[in-house]
Amino acid sequence: MSIAVSMKPTATSGEHRDIFASDIRSDPANSEEPSSAGANGEHIEAALTKLHAALDAHPLWETRLLKACERGYLGVDDFRILFEQYYLYSKNFTRYLSALMTACEDDLHRAQLAQNLWEEGGLLEPQKRHAEMLRHFLREGLDIDLDRIEYTEAGKLFAREYLDFCRVSHPAAISAFLSLGTEAIVSRLYGVFVKGLRKAGVDESHLDFFHLHIGCDDEHAETIKNIMMSYSSMPGWYDLCYQAMDYALSLRKQFFDNMYTYIESRRIRGLIEKIQDRKSLVPDTPDTSALHHRFGEEAGQLMYENTNERLNIDFTVERVPFPAEVIDTRIVRIPVGKNNECHKHAHESVFFIISGRGRLHVNNSSVEVSAGDLALVPRWAVHQTHNIGDDELVILALTDFHLTGRAFVGNYLSTARMKASQATVIRCGTSRSNCTEVTPPRRPKTRPDTRRDHWQ
Ligand SMILES: [Fe+2]
Ligand SMILES: [Fe+2]
Repeated sequence: MSIAVSMKPTATSGEHRDIFASDIRSDPANSEEPSSAGANGEHIEAALTKLHAALDAHPLWETRLLKACERGYLGVDDFRILFEQYYLYSKNFTRYLSALMTACEDDLHRAQLAQNLWEEGGLLEPQKRHAEMLRHFLREGLDIDLDRIEYTEAGKLFAREYLDFCRVSHPAAISAFLSLGTEAIVSRLYGVFVKGLRKAGVDESHLDFFHLHIGCDDEHAETIKNIMMSYSSMPGWYDLCYQAMDYALSLRKQFFDNMYTYIESRRIRGLIEKIQDRKSLVPDTPDTSALHHRFGEEAGQLMYENTNERLNIDFTVERVPFPAEVIDTRIVRIPVGKNNECHKHAHESVFFIISGRGRLHVNNSSVEVSAGDLALVPRWAVHQTHNIGDDELVILALTDFHLTGRAFVGNYLSTARMKASQATVIRCGTSRSNCTEVTPPRRPKTRPDTRRDHWQ
């Protein structure tokens, strides 16, 4: 399919004047043809609208990292991991702009890019250059020691591909890559970061780097977009711009996917290292109080309680403070005739019924339990226990909470425990879909052939 365009050379495209063509092919993945059939400018506008629509719908915006950030699931440690790696890409940003400047034949374009670079450089105050502002955020906002950053392969690949692409591509491709694929997404993207950083407790005074870019990058995007538009009559312009934009967005998506996986693994890495180290968690002669709990004589630490008359909820959960790193030992008490919440969570539990009689619901099944019984509650199974006996129901729950609580990216309790209002509509014994999603990481796309020599 093609968008028929009859174009005259633009005044600013230099030696590309000889390669203007009569049509702009549209992205084959998007079959909806821009509706305008009028003047050339309208065709170009329609093509631009399509590019913006593709940008807005790009899978980048659905990445688990951005979703977790938006929902406030990332803590300061997680942001440290992300921004240590992002720093390599970001501190090299002026090099990407400089590469575009080198590729531009038009001196007006180079002058306009020089203005962008001048702003990136902090105008008359180089100590306020954007890279320095980012360093300030990393040091003061996230307490990162810049000299100790170790870049991952994912961080290096992201920055290297950006620079390589800008060094070798046609100026139309570089300008699409840096305008639509980069600067134009900044206000939306940094808005998500600011939201997540605030939720993680990072002080507003450390977020200047983001606010500044939310304010100025739309303007920067516009300047570079105008450079892209100046090539709009060259053959294959639309496809070239689409591929370049998509490649920039895909590179960022791949980087975010890799960072999310890295964040997940870093959360439990310390634990795994301790397992491998073959060192005991307690000294050679541990205090016996750390190893022993006499049930009935000692109280555990009250960690959770809830009562709700309407839902018949009344129960307590005590924790036995053993110095374990994976196993969390809990005692659940439910009075006669009462039940705990209908809920689910990432940790799995083995119940040992110490005393009393109850009915345990697990998803669509239920089982009667009494003193001396063992029962399993698998992870993410919806479950609830009712006391159906004449005495207090007391349950020893051995869970792997210390492991899953660490591994889970999210607000563990607010995500896993149902609120009373939810419990009224989601009852145990009814089917529920699992709310967690698992997206396999996407491999990097092959770089499109946007080389200058190929397109000239
Ligand atoms: Fe900047
Ligand atoms: Fe539970």
